Amino acid sequence: MALVPPKRRRGPGRGQEAGAGGAAVSSPAPLRFPGVTIYLAERHMGRSRRAFLTGLARAKGFRVDQAYSPEVTHVVMEGSSAAEASRWLDGVLGASGSLPRPLLLNISWFTESMGQGKPVPVESRHCLGVSLPTRSQADPNSLPAYACQRHTPLTHHNLCFTEALETLAEAAGFEDSQGRFLSFRRAASVLRALSGPITSMSQLRGLPSFGDHSSRIVQELLEHGVSSEVERVKQSERYKTMKLFTQIFGVGVKTADRWYREGLRTLADLQGQTRKLNRQQEAGIRYFEDLTRPVWRHEADAIQQVVEEAVWQVLPGATVTMTGGFCRGKLQGHDVDFLITHPVEGQEAGLIPKVMSHLESQGLVLYQHTQSNHYQELKDLDHKASQNNTMDAYERCFSILWLPKSPTSFHLETGEGPREPSGDGRAVRVDLVVTPISQFAFALLGWTGSQHFQRELRRFSRTEKQLLLNSHGLYDPEKKESLPATSEEDIFTHLGLEYIAPEQRNA
Ligand code: CTP
Ligand code: MN
Ligand code: MN
Repeated sequence: MALVPPKRRRGPGRGQEAGAGGAAVSSPAPLRFPGVTIYLAERHMGRSRRAFLTGLARAKGFRVDQAYSPEVTHVVMEGSSAAEASRWLDGVLGASGSLPRPLLLNISWFTESMGQGKPVPVESRHCLGVSLPTRSQADPNSLPAYACQRHTPLTHHNLCFTEALETLAEAAGFEDSQGRFLSFRRAASVLRALSGPITSMSQLRGLPSFGDHSSRIVQELLEHGVSSEVERVKQSERYKTMKLFTQIFGVGVKTADRWYREGLRTLADLQGQTRKLNRQQEAGIRYFEDLTRPVWRHEADAIQQVVEEAVWQVLPGATVTMTGGFCRGKLQGHDVDFLITHPVEGQEAGLIPKVMSHLESQGLVLYQHTQSNHYQELKDLDHKASQNNTMDAYERCFSILWLPKSPTSFHLETGEGPREPSGDGRAVRVDLVVTPISQFAFALLGWTGSQHFQRELRRFSRTEKQLLLNSHGLYDPEKKESLPATSEEDIFTHLGLEYIAPEQRNA
């Protein structure tokens, strides 16, 4: 079987043009993106342009291979149709159905990545769909039905499809269509767990949670590179407005929908109607720009230091654990989530108000809303509350903290009134949750997410094991007893599940 394109090619050894070659010509920049290996198809592109683009990418630290091999992850073509791309790939892969299939991309992905100096996320508009059925790469039989039974890494091979399906899920959520929301969300989650890209419809056969509607969307994307339904949704005034409003801290679907029905469409509309806003939403709008900018990992680490310092002042021996997306390996997030506990049960009670006043005295609190622990009330309902949502009853604080740009700009807030965003720092959304040590493992599991992974874990427990799981514990309603755990591993074991590490919970 030939691993080089069937087109007129000289051997890989000869394809090394000046400036674009390997060690012989000039040493390329060190490789910066280990997960990405690019192959530029010469057809339509021409040899000299290919050489030029190769040199450009290598100078920016990309790995560009001259010859096609199974290590190639991104095939970039210029001026090729989907059908042509597909035939080319079939020719290259020959009879072997088991080789990994690379992404087939048009030149726009390459150009944008060079512009940004890093691989941009693959979107549907970058994809060269495949119109011909090809062999299946995903082995549907090996993909279990629940997301909590699968390994789902942060980066995956089907971004153009998951983006589309997740947009439809989000839009369904805006319309309060829980069923549609879940079916798109589950389909997207399945694609996130595949070991290679979907390049033909036959690969969907046998995949769990893949309904007709989701299949239609994938087919559209494969055939045309875009889905008219998804594009229509994304362009609609309803979707755009709901997305904008629900991005505001303190605004959920219900509120956004009410505002939409009242004819409000923009942030300016809301600012003109401040009596409609509660304190939280007002803060959400005031710091909107900062809060919609991603929080980077180093910023999260800096926040952790500030929080730890305050916590240790108030309760020496307490621990502060970062959870949420950063715990799953994300490089950026919409907020920073912390779990606080103390090795002596009971010591942690009432911690948050003290921690917050310590932070306040440093001028670092832009907004806070603390909720005290109401676990007893919840428990009295005999875990009924555990069934309907992800809300737990821990002492917790939803806050917006001020992160100074550098430690030297730490200073006491002297002026009155809210701090305005400025060049010397930024506002960051921070969630603090306090848990007694006996419930820590459950809280850690719940707050590490992803939200979908947790939803699936709870569905699995309920449906397959007749056990009720939430962020406080695991309850056997038949025996009327709680199952203890001191680690996340314990909980997976109780449920008879293989342990899945946080980095593989990006369902
Ligand atoms: N969570 C929860 N109860 C809430 C809010 C969140 O139990 N009221 C849990 C969810 O299971 C979620 C996790 O906490 O998976 C983190 O929530 P969130 O910060 O919203 O999401 P992340 O996964 O951290 O993503 P991001 O990077 O966007 O913050
Ligand atoms: Mn988070
Ligand atoms: Mn959060």
